[in-house]
Amino acid sequence: MITWGCQMNVYDSGRMADVLAPLGYQPTDAADGADMIILNTCHIRDKASEKVFSELGRLRVIQEAGATAGRRPILAVAGCVAQAEGAEILARAPFVDIVLGPQTYHRLPEMVARASRAAGAVIETDFPTEDKFDHLPEAAAPQGLTAFLTIQEGCDKFCSFCVVPYTRGAETSRSEATVIAEARRLVAQGSREITLLGQNVNAWHGLDDSGNPSSLGRLARKLAAIPGLDRIRYTTSHPRDMDDDLIRAHADVPQLMPFLHLPVQSGSDRILTAMNRKHTRDDYYRLVDRLRDARPDLALSSDFIVGHPGETEVDFEATMELIRRVEFASAFSFKYSPRPGTPASGAHSQIDEETKDRRLYALQDLLRQQQEAFNLSKEGETIEVLFTHPGRQPGQIGGRTPWLQPVHALGPESLIGHIVSVRIEKGRPNSLVATLNPEFAPA
Ligand code: 5AD
Ligand code: SF4
Repeated sequence: MITWGCQMNVYDSGRMADVLAPLGYQPTDAADGADMIILNTCHIRDKASEKVFSELGRLRVIQEAGATAGRRPILAVAGCVAQAEGAEILARAPFVDIVLGPQTYHRLPEMVARASRAAGAVIETDFPTEDKFDHLPEAAAPQGLTAFLTIQEGCDKFCSFCVVPYTRGAETSRSEATVIAEARRLVAQGSREITLLGQNVNAWHGLDDSGNPSSLGRLARKLAAIPGLDRIRYTTSHPRDMDDDLIRAHADVPQLMPFLHLPVQSGSDRILTAMNRKHTRDDYYRLVDRLRDARPDLALSSDFIVGHPGETEVDFEATMELIRRVEFASAFSFKYSPRPGTPASGAHSQIDEETKDRRLYALQDLLRQQQEAFNLSKEGETIEVLFTHPGRQPGQIGGRTPWLQPVHALGPESLIGHIVSVRIEKGRPNSLVATLNPEFAPA
């Protein structure tokens, strides 16, 4: 399985492995010799489909070599490129056996059966009426100390630049009971941190046991009651869906980590309107103030797009101003990339590449400085780290702070799986160096 794109694709790849396990399939990293190859694709930016076709060209060689040896592997394309360009994929790469959209992976065993009967290629890119989450197997492979849990999918916001509403469909939420059951299972399998996932995760309104729509703040409180679940995160949030109760949860629920990914995209009201973001710059400032009032140590990350159609120097400067004012602990930033079928792709006022490059460079430089300053601000502090893996150097262990900063320390591997108080000795651009507190006790 080759996975591109967001954490939701990582989660989906895990679930595809789960549905295929009863058929005898096991994940492998090597395409050579695999019985099936699945590309889980992303369509959000750049030449996504070209990347898929070039990978398919490479895999075709492996597939043909397998066929000569009498075991031709099944080739499947999943994810958002499959959803957006299903028929096109089969036209250009007729050796592909299965094309499946993100809503249909629970039907994968049936598709595999049809494909193995050599009945021609199978294509499933409908949004089925049944809920794929109701058709997942009971058994699932453990995810480890930190786990993903998709609770919401799809988007109703229709930002001018974005393909998600078309590839992932309308906003849907899993029920509270199924989410809590999955979280309990993950914790029983050893996960201590769960990141709740959704394209608009804070628009989650799954039904509670009485059949009433719940909210993410309430869900966070219920999940926090699961013994052994020490850290809860959620991503990605839309500023419009940050309700009072969720903000309050950041004050009341210690398991809710003080780090929030809250994309703003631009700091110019003119561009925010053109983007159909449904919030202003001041809305964002107010929201950040309320979040920081609730949880003073809350750190923020964000997504930014430079060069959206119509963006002037003044608009770009407004984005820089917003960054200076909010101060981000980390961020993702992108050059606007026209996506077929989205409103902005047809706009007349496209920005030239050189301007986009220049703006992206300046913006990333500022964001880099802020990230480094944030890391440096932790020097000398005592911070709880969830150690998750051996470090690169002998005797080192690695983990994450509550703010998702990678940390390394010299310490015994027996601390992996524990939350330990450490002293931060050094802040680096992308990580922290720590020493173990002499009086530490594994929590
Ligand atoms: N061009 C550039 N960036 C985009 N994103 C989404 N669509 C585009 C696009 N067409 C970015 C947004 C979003 C993140 C996941 O990807 O910043 O928040
Ligand atoms: Fe895309 Fe906007 Fe929906 Fe985010 S909120 S998934 S950027 S349309």
